[in-house]
Order: sequence, then C-alpha cells, then structure tokens
Amino acid sequence: MISEKAEEIINYHEATKHHFEQYARSPGYMDWQNQPNPFRSYTEVPVLRLPLLKADPPAAYRGLYERQDNLPQPIILETLAGFLELSLGLSAWKAVSGSRWSLRINPSSGNLHPTEAHLILPPMASHPGGVYHYNALGHLLERRAEIHSDIWQRIVSHFGTDGFLIAINSIFWRESWKYGERAFRYCNHDAGHALACLSFAANLYGWKCVFLNELSDEEIEAILGFEQIRFRKLEEEHTDCICFIYPRGTADTPRGLPDPIIADLANLAFKGEAEILSQKCIDWEIIYQTARLAKKPSTAKTRVELQNRNWLVDASSPLSAAEIVRNRRSAIAFDDSGFITGSQFFSMLDKTLPRRDIAPFDVELTEPLTHLLLFVHNVDDLTPGLYFFVRKNADLSEIKGISRSDYQWAPVETNFPLYLLAEGNYRQQAMMVSCHQDIAGSSAFSLGMIAKFRDVVTADPHRYRHLFWETGMIGQVLYLEAEAHGLRGTGIGCFFDDAVHEIMGFSDNRYQSLYHFTVGKPIEDPRLTTYPPYNHLPNHKSVP
Ligand SMILES: Cc1cc2nc3c(=O)[nH]c(=O)nc-3n(C[C@H](O)[C@H](O)[C@H](O)COP(=O)(O)O)c2cc1C
Repeated sequence: MISEKAEEIINYHEATKHHFEQYARSPGYMDWQNQPNPFRSYTEVPVLRLPLLKADPPAAYRGLYERQDNLPQPIILETLAGFLELSLGLSAWKAVSGSRWSLRINPSSGNLHPTEAHLILPPMASHPGGVYHYNALGHLLERRAEIHSDIWQRIVSHFGTDGFLIAINSIFWRESWKYGERAFRYCNHDAGHALACLSFAANLYGWKCVFLNELSDEEIEAILGFEQIRFRKLEEEHTDCICFIYPRGTADTPRGLPDPIIADLANLAFKGEAEILSQKCIDWEIIYQTARLAKKPSTAKTRVELQNRNWLVDASSPLSAAEIVRNRRSAIAFDDSGFITGSQFFSMLDKTLPRRDIAPFDVELTEPLTHLLLFVHNVDDLTPGLYFFVRKNADLSEIKGISRSDYQWAPVETNFPLYLLAEGNYRQQAMMVSCHQDIAGSSAFSLGMIAKFRDVVTADPHRYRHLFWETGMIGQVLYLEAEAHGLRGTGIGCFFDDAVHEIMGFSDNRYQSLYHFTVGKPIEDPRLTTYPPYNHLPNHKSVP
C-alpha cells in the first residue's frame, strides 16, 4: 500500500517531467523586473568580516578525497573563513558586453543559487558563539543569535569533540522564477552539490563532515530560529539538512542533538530581518505542497556502512586540491573531436563510488541508490556505445531484469562494475534526451543518473529529496574530477525523463533518471572576460 504522501510526491515527479511535446509548466519567459537577488543578507545584525585566504591549504589532488595526509587544523576564524571560501564562496566574476555576473565554488542550475547556509559556531577569540548566516557576496557572517558558552560546552560534550554545525537551506523562488514547477528538483540538485562542496572543503582542513540524519526539518528550522523570523511569503528558506564538521579521528559521532539542546537553541533571542529578494513572487503551489509532504520527520540514528576499496586507477593531477575546487566551471561547449583517455574515464567513474573515510560520500547521506547510464562518445580504447555503471551491486539483477532484453551487459574491466549494453554512435540520442542540448552529444561522454525510485519514496517520502542530493553529490565529484584531468563537465537538469527510460526499456517507475551530466574537452567562449572572485570588496586580495 502506497501512502497518500508518497503518491502525491510521485505525482509531483510525474507532473514535472519534460516531454518532447511539452515541457514542465514554467513561466516561459524571463521576468527580469522580478529576478530574485541571488545573494541574501540579514539586516540589523552584527557582522563579522571574514579574512580571505592568503594561501590555500596545501592538499594535493588526492587530498580532495583522502583525509589522512590533510593535517587537522584548529577551528579558528581563519580556517573557518577558508572553509567557507572554498565551499560556498565566489569563484569568479564574468563579464560580456556590459553585463557582469558572479560564479561560485558550488554550481547551480541557471546560476540562480537557491542555497543559503547558516552556521552554529563556537566562541572564538574575536567573536561570541552564535547562529550566523553566511553572506557569500560580502564573504561575511551575520550573527543572528548569540550562544552562551555553557550551551556550546554541552554541544561539545554531546559530540565528544570540538566542531561546528552548518545547515543548508533552499529558497525555491530563486529557481521557480525561471524554471516554474520543476524548480523543486533543481533546488535539491543544488543542495546535493553544496553538500559535496562542504565535505570536500572540510577535507582540505583535515575535518570530517557528517550528515545529522536523526533531526527533523522542523527541529533544524527551530534551531536556526526560522520560527522567529517573518520571512516574506515565498521567500522563506526551507531547510535541506544540517551537518556537523569536526577534526577527523573521532570514530562514531552522534547524528542528532538532544532535545534540551534543541530547545535551548530554539529559544535564543534571534535578531535580524531577511532582505527581500524580488518585488513580486509567483506561487508555484505544487512546489510548496510537495516540500511539505517531503519534510523529514525525526528518525532513529542510522549509519551508512561504507567499504574500504582501493582506487582502480592511480590517478594524479598537476593541480592542487584547492586549485581544482576554485577552477571548477561548467563547460558551455565541447570539442567533439577531443578524446579523453581510458584511465581518465575510469578514474572519474571510480571516484563516484562511496568508500569509507573518503569524501564526499562519507558524509553518510545514504547507501548508494543511483547508477549511471553512460553515452560514451570519445574515450580512448573504449568502443563508443551505451554503458551502465552499477554503484550498488545488489541492484544489478533487478535493473537487468527490467531493462531491454537485447542489451549485452558485458563487463568491461575485472572488479569494476561497468557494463557495455550496446555498441554504437549515441551522440544524437544523448543530445536528444538532454533537451536537444549539444553539450550532451559533443562531449567525450554524457550520462543519466538512474535512481532507485518507487520503493525508496514509498518507504520514506522525505527521501525523495535525498535521491536528488545524491545525484548532486555525484555531479560535484564529476565536475572536480573533470577539472583535475584538464577536462570540464556540466550538470544537465533539462532532460526528457521518459525518453531516457525508453532507452533503458523501463516500463514503470522502479528506477527513474534524475539528473544528467556531460564531460569532455571544453571550448572556451573568447568573448567572456574573467575577474577575480573578490575584487568587488574593498581591501580584499584573493589568492593569486
Ligand atoms: C542542477 C544543475 C542543473 C544544470 N543544468 C544545466 C543544463 O541543463 N544546461 C546547461 O548548459 N547547464 C546546466 N547547468 C550548469 C549551470 O548553468 C552552471 O552551474 C551555472 O551557470 C554556474 O556556472 P558554473 O558551474 O561555471 O559556476 C546546471 C547546473 C546544475 C548544478
């Protein structure tokens, strides 16, 4: 028996599919007058300006993923500022013929940036502990509430280690302004990308980031003081999740907060007003309805058991981990004659497999629920064609059983879950299913992320969102891996859902394609000028 909640969420998913003959409902034009501000400030609160990094953390490429060589740094203002700069800060300004826009370390569909971050920080030399909002444009923290040191001491004793909390939230209107009803999906993709960004940046400081899976959304919104804010209607922040970040070494930290601490945080005296983002908002009702149904209740602590697994390829990169993070960009066009090597391809896929104590999947969001349907165009020593990468072996026989019977399922490598389904030139099909976007057909490979869907949403409706977060995290790994190998990737949120399922031969919703991605040799747009990320701030010098 499927619950009404799950059924309605699945209905939202169906209603927001793009079809060849009809796209999901959206405004259909850009209402520039009402474009939401991609940066939020909380006004009338004390502001803490963060120093910019004078030098990046020294981790090499491997240190993106592995933690053992990244010395745990003390949690002080400078390291916290560096962590924010390298996770959710700006990465550049771009300009062309009179218009100028910023880019960030975390990507976002349409560059609309629905994700906001709030931190619960310990007292430090220069400032009291408190609940702070991160303002990425000013690279500053806005103190919305002060925490007395005794509350903080109880938080430390609860976790058994120093650390801090960071929550990410979505403002749906920022995405629905352009994308209408499908925007809830994009906000959740973006949250997944942001979650991976937090994990990678924490790693560079020798810290570990874990997802606090016990807390309900209501509890998180209470401790962030959202019950005490009068958000402008439709400009509310809806919480995605909260993570605890701590120096590595502590084996099994709690995944929740005790009720008395939740109550004390919720009762803090919160100050400040969330600045209005646009003149007028449109109520895409189905988004708010689905968000209500997909709210997370409080749940028992779960641990995701991850395996130790050697890397398939001993890959390296001339870039440091921080350079990779800073240089990440979305490709806007690819050289369709550009080949990538087999070892680059295998290294990228391999990094999407979760491993114990390896970022970003050791945040322990979920056991793997998502697999990759690959359209391979230009990979040395690999026959062009359709491939399938199985991120959780237990799903293999079910997927085979519901797929087209003429697919080969021929293993490509020993001890690597990659299978050839069919040889052939899939450029046209890849492009066509990704809303006719050239970038899916002219790259070295593109892919659809195929998630276990019906059973997951039926069992736990709130995990509809986790499916998208997982795909966003995989996307972030692919973005960084592409950059590390001198290539470039792009997330693709626009695709014809059922056309992808037809390629697989799926006839029901046991598995659904939730996100696409493409990787190849990029062609730069020479018309664009690039400026450093913080040259708009007086007296701020970025890492050269
Ligand atoms: C969830 C998601 C969906 C996206 N969908 C598309 C897409 O369909 N087509 C495209 O060209 N770019 C897409 N992008 C790339 C964004 O446009 C890009 O991230 C944004 O403009 C910021 O640029 P940057 O990634 O270079 O920082 C997507 C990105 C994300 C995170």
